[in-house]
Amino acid sequence: MNNSQLIEIALQAREKAYCPYSGFAVGAALLCGDGSVYTGCNIENSAFSPTNCAERTAFFKAVSEGKRDFVKIVVVGGNAEKSPENYCPPCGVCRQVMKEFCGADFEVIIAKTPDDYKSMTLAELLPASFDKREV
Ligand code: THU
Repeated sequence: MNNSQLIEIALQAREKAYCPYSGFAVGAALLCGDGSVYTGCNIENSAFSPTNCAERTAFFKAVSEGKRDFVKIVVVGGNAEKSPENYCPPCGVCRQVMKEFCGADFEVIIAKTPDDYKSMTLAELLPASFDKREV
């Protein structure tokens, strides 16, 4: 599974986004250590706060299926009527969820197309973070 293939999967997942309120569609593809891939999309709600981001959808699907070992995630997002025109960095809540299950070197790829992407580590995205070791 190379990065371009994982981005293609995230772009397909984005097509499932339920985003009637924002019109902003997000897709995610989460690669596990065993090679399996879990997808996610954002799922909005008329009460707004129950909305779930694409990244958390992917993580919660994977964890609920027993997965705990994660390698990287791709995130793609933008106006639902168009292909992604900008990179879509994960929100702070999703970064914290990643932190629960992933180490500093977990790779977060934000992409526009299968050939146009940036890669960052979770440590870069969430420095000095709260961690379960503190609890
Ligand atoms: N969204 C995500 O799915 N992931 C992010 O990291 C940023 C925001 C969703 C939430 C909401 O449905 C829409 O994008 C606009 O904020």
